Amino acid sequence: MNPDELKAAVGRAALAHVPRGSVIGVGTGSTVDRFIDALGAARGLVAGAVSSSERSSARLRERGIEVLDAAAVQRLPVYIDGADEIDPAGCMIKGGGGALTREKIVADLADRFVCIADESKRVAVLGAFPLPLEVIAMAAAQVTRRLAALGARVVPRAGFVSDNGHPILDAHGLAITDPAALECEINQWPGVVTVGIFARHRAQLCLLGTPQGVQTLRFD
Ligand code: 5RP
Repeated sequence: MNPDELKAAVGRAALAHVPRGSVIGVGTGSTVDRFIDALGAARGLVAGAVSSSERSSARLRERGIEVLDAAAVQRLPVYIDGADEIDPAGCMIKGGGGALTREKIVADLADRFVCIADESKRVAVLGAFPLPLEVIAMAAAQVTRRLAALGARVVPRAGFVSDNGHPILDAHGLAITDPAALECEINQWPGVVTVGIFARHRAQLCLLGTPQGVQTLRFD
């Protein structure tokens, strides 16, 4: 299977984790695009979706799926999203597509996080993929200095602003051996909107696309 076929396979496999008639959380990215395609084909499976980006909202609507505001729901049974890296505990780096803040907000509404990814995303230790941080522009230099003090090489994402209107910094070269502790630490820094470590909002399950088929990893 080529990479796109792997994404389509995990996208279809995720349908088995969608309670019929529910409103679900939907993430962002090329893998989620294929999940949205599968959801559209499974007419009437969901009552609607809370989306983590303008991009996913547009794709959901194109496929006839109602997009609800996050404020309209109190909880979601499941949130389905991709990842840039996932470790053996289900902790993830996310935000390669720059949607990390809304992704964390929607994940926080959900009872379960089902990650859909190909096997290249599975790592022993997070950090080979540059860690994204959404920041308030005024704090970018200050946050950059703090990241550099941790040993990171920081690259502002050129020409990009998030759906919330903020810049993204990509922190290269961190070996994130304790994702929960680093997430907690960075969350204390003034001007950080969201750090792309998903440890508190880690996945309970990962559907991993492999050449042998879709593998299910359980973390709870
Ligand atoms: C977007 C994300 C995506 O989930 C992550 O970048 C994976 O994307 P893809 O499925 O295209 O590899 O966090 O902000």
